[in-house]
This record gives sequence, C-alpha cells and structure tokens, in this order.
Amino acid sequence: MCGIVGYVGDKQAASFLLDGLAKLEYRGYDSAGIAVFNGESIRVEKSVGRLASLKDKIKDDMPQGVMGIGHTRWATHGRPSDRNSHPHTDCSGDFVVVHNGIIENYLTLKEDLIEKGHVFKSETDTEVVAHLIEEVYNGDFVSSVREVLRRIEGSYSLVFMSSKHPGMLICAKQDNPLVIGLGEGENFIASDIPAIIQYTRRTYILNDGEMAVLTKDSIKISNRQGEPVTKKVFEVNWNAEAAEKGGYEHFMLKEIHEQPKAVRDTMSQRIAKDGKSIIMDELKWDADYLNSFNKIYIVACGTAYHAGLVGKYYIEKLARTVVEVDVASEFRYREPIVDENTLFIAVSQSGETSDTLAAMKESKRLGAKTLALTNVVGSSIAREADQVLYTWAGPEIAVASTKAYTTQIVLFFMLALYMAQIKQTLKPERVAELIDMLHQIPTQVSRTLEDVEPIKTFAKQYGFNEDVFYIGRSLDYDVALEGSLKLKEISYIHAEAYAAGELKHGTLALIVEGVPVIALATQKSVYEKTLSNIKEVKARDAVVIGIAAEGDEELEKYVDHVMKVPETDELLIPILTVVPLQLLAYYAAITRGCDVDKPRNLAKSVTVE
Ligand code: F6R
Repeated sequence: MCGIVGYVGDKQAASFLLDGLAKLEYRGYDSAGIAVFNGESIRVEKSVGRLASLKDKIKDDMPQGVMGIGHTRWATHGRPSDRNSHPHTDCSGDFVVVHNGIIENYLTLKEDLIEKGHVFKSETDTEVVAHLIEEVYNGDFVSSVREVLRRIEGSYSLVFMSSKHPGMLICAKQDNPLVIGLGEGENFIASDIPAIIQYTRRTYILNDGEMAVLTKDSIKISNRQGEPVTKKVFEVNWNAEAAEKGGYEHFMLKEIHEQPKAVRDTMSQRIAKDGKSIIMDELKWDADYLNSFNKIYIVACGTAYHAGLVGKYYIEKLARTVVEVDVASEFRYREPIVDENTLFIAVSQSGETSDTLAAMKESKRLGAKTLALTNVVGSSIAREADQVLYTWAGPEIAVASTKAYTTQIVLFFMLALYMAQIKQTLKPERVAELIDMLHQIPTQVSRTLEDVEPIKTFAKQYGFNEDVFYIGRSLDYDVALEGSLKLKEISYIHAEAYAAGELKHGTLALIVEGVPVIALATQKSVYEKTLSNIKEVKARDAVVIGIAAEGDEELEKYVDHVMKVPETDELLIPILTVVPLQLLAYYAAITRGCDVDKPRNLAKSVTVE
C-alpha cells in the first residue's frame, strides 16, 4: 500500500512526480503529496483525498525544482488528513521522507525524540524517520541514512531528500517494493513500474536490505553492511500503453477485456508443439521430487485465494495429491504443520502481499519447498520462492482483480496437468483432450465478452438491492466466492456466496421475496443437486439468475433469467463463468455511481498485515 516516487535530473521534478503518482494511485488514495527542492529550500505540498485535489491545489503555482519526492497514501497509522499525508519533514525542514510500510518501533523512537526536543506534527509512524535523520545527521547524508536504517524496525520502502545535499536522493527497501528507473541525465524511483515506464524501461529492482544513492548521472547500490552491490539491469518487456486505459472507461473494464490475450499469454510456451503435453521449463520436476511431498499448501489472499481453491480442485482431481488451501493471514499464525515434505505454493498477482510473503518465509524456514504463482516479475514473492511460475497477464491496475484470477486458474490447470503427466495419474489421451479444450478457452472468453447487454440490464434491475447471494457446488462454489467478492468490493452491495447445499443450514432464512440469487450450475456431477437448491430458493420467491453452459436447456425452466457461457470441460468452465460475474459487478458499480477502479478503503497491493 502507498505509492512513492522520486526524481533527480534536469527537468522539472513536479511533472514526473504528479504523473508517477497518478500511475501509483491504485496503491492508495487517501492523500497525496510532493516535496520539491528549488536549489535553496524544500517546498512540501500535500492534500487529503485523491491526487486530483493536490493537483488542483498547486495547479497555478507548481513547485519548481529538478529534484523531488512524492507519495500517495493508504492510511495505516493516523487517519487520512493533510497533516498525516506524506512527505514528512523534520523540525528544520531540511530533511523530507516518503515511506511505504510500517515502522514497528515508532512509538519508542518517538518518545525518545520528543525528549530530545523534536516536535511532531502528525500521528504517523513515518514522521519519526524524518526526525531521526535530523537527530543522527553527521554531515554525511549516506552514513546518516544508514544509521537511521539501523535504528528502525519494520517494513519500508523509503526515499530521503535533503536541502543540505542538492542533487542526491537516497532510497532503501525492506519488505516493500522499490524500483529504480535508469534515465539519461536523470534517474527515477518508484514503488512500481507503471510510474516510470513512460520514461524508461531500464530498471533496477531493489532487494530487501538494499539502499541506493541516486544523482542525475549515477546510481550506487549497497547492502546493509554498506558493501557495493552490482545489479543486472531489468528491461521491462511491456510498454506504457499496457498501463493506460486504452480507450476503456476504466482499467477494470480494459482488464476484463484483456482476458483472452492474458490467458493465451499464460499458456504460450507451456504447451508442447504437438499439443499433447505440458512443458514447464521453469520447474523441471520429476516423479521423485513430487513423491517427496506428502502435502501441498496453497496460500494466498482475496481473489488469489479463490484461484487457489480452484487450484486445489485441479491438483487433487488430476494429479491425485492432497492439497490444503489457506488464507495467508490465518495460515501464518496457526502453527501450520510444514516440513521438508511440504510443497508450499503462494499465489499473488502483485507478488508483494505481506501476509502471503510472510507465510512463504515461515514455510521456507520450516523446510518446505516453495513455488510462487505470480504476475509481477522480480516481485518480493517471486524472489523469495525457490521456483516461480509467472502468469504473464500484463499489468493489472484496477484494484479489483480480474485477469490475474483467470490466468492464475489457467496456470493451476497447467500445473495440475504437468503433475499428472509426471505421476501418470491421467492417460495421455485425456491430457491431450484437456489441452485441446484449453486451447479453445481464449476464443471462448472473447465470445463470453460479447454478450454484455443482458448483464447491463440485470445490473440496472438489481443494482440497488441491499443483498445478493451467489450459490453453486464444487467448482461453481469457488467461482461464486469470487463473483460475490467482485460485487461487494466495487459496488458496495452486500454479497455472499454459499455452497448451495449449505443454504438450508441457516442462510435460507435470508432468502425472501425479490432477493437476487445468482446460481451457477455447470458441474455435471452435482447438477441435479444444484437444481434442487435452486428450487428451494425459488420456493421462497427469490429472483434467480442462472449461469449455465450452452447446450443446457434445463436450467431456464427453473430460474428467472439465464446467462450462458460456451461449452467446455467442466474443469475449465470457471474461466468462462467468472466473466459474466466480473461484468455484472462492473455494471452494478457503474449503475450505483461507484469509483470502479479505486473502491473505498481498498488498495491494490496490500503490503501491510
Ligand atoms: C480483489 C483483490 C484482492 C487481491 C488480494 C491479494 O479483487 O484484488 O482480494 O486478490 O489482495 O493480492 P495479490 O494477488 O496481489 O497477493
């Protein structure tokens, strides 16, 4: 959470800072601020609310100068307000700091600094860093920052600027992302690549414990001990357009429509030329390796957790291996039974989610082998894992995850097939048949995307309901969970998903006349049972929207409306059924006038516990 940027060069810093923050607003939008050095002093401008209010505040009087830092905030310590917005300054105004993360020992440090005469202006943990640098400053900016880093505990990406050291920015990273962009006569710092991609594709991705000193012509990276670190330049392989809306009204809609391509990209290079087997060059597993595990844990948060549920189904069904799925924030505190016979799979779009990362670190410590399924190359989770499978979905900017989910499912499907090949739990003909079906999925997703008019109508009809229920069995239940999360997070409608068979154990009491129920009925083995559950809610006068595969002529007899997706193997159908649910959430949010890409209280990348 929180986005930070920094610029040092020949051009006006404010222009990059505001531009970069706009690209990082998905990381938090409770407040925004910039600090620019004009050659003599530092001018700080900040404003509660969206970046737009900061821009409005300074539009007629832009801070001038060729070095600056900026921040867009997702509040943790201290409520959103002008005072609590970053950048934070020391007493003299000579030092400014922006921070993403949490300084865990800030209260102790603050008490000590107050005793020494420092006067605090905000309730944030970050302000202690600004005062601490003032306190320990010894005339050498770099060694003073190093001293600050020695004293603070917690997670951070930090950028320091000082009017005493023109032309120099210092940044440091621990458990929060930080990227340096290499320019010509200018250099950039950002929490994420979209902020700098318009300016350069050449980057350094900092590791935990690293610090970098930037001038307009140089970048010096060192480790905790102060030893120089030589880094390889990471060339970003996507362009600025990938991080723009490209004619769509919202990133979310664009990303929903990017799913056919994203799914294709996930598959590409992972299917043998003859189309009959899966290749995972990144893994190169064999039977001995797989047989060394007696358990697989899939651990993730939110939407990625929902993809993990589908992953469990695939691995158990196709590769006949026991899998447990857990929410990362629960897993890490439950003393999980993990040892060297455990395979730990972390799923994370951003690769930065703090709970997932911590769960992976803990499992590694206990001896597990670790695999990351992630979208962001070089992210913390990717770097921490023993092995990585990238989803190759391209940048996902909207807070509500869409293409990350579908590509994670595709990747799990391929992983399960790959394991099945090695373990010989599936006949080669069945593997080839499933791969054939998988090949058709991108085109089928495109077809599903064409049928939006009925979805818009449902959104208008039911978009003002207080509650919506989603039901399904087996894989349909997993998709129901994802559909209901999408609806609640962007439209603020209370939505719940239930295993259809569970309704009569309590929830049926909430089903009264007119309550919308979205019923997924695509799984053949439980189809009749799902129909019975649909009849139960219809008997209570619910309005039922059924989701079925083409060729199903039965469901429409029992529901009020039906939406159909192309026919495929029932294992693959979640990749199709989730699409109308994403669109329904999107259009419901539009109907209610919600800010689709930046829903209230949320942020894209959750780098705090
Ligand atoms: C919901 C959503 C979140 C994320 C969750 C994990 O639409 O996006 O629930 O799925 O915060 O994020 P990652 O996948 O980045 O670890």
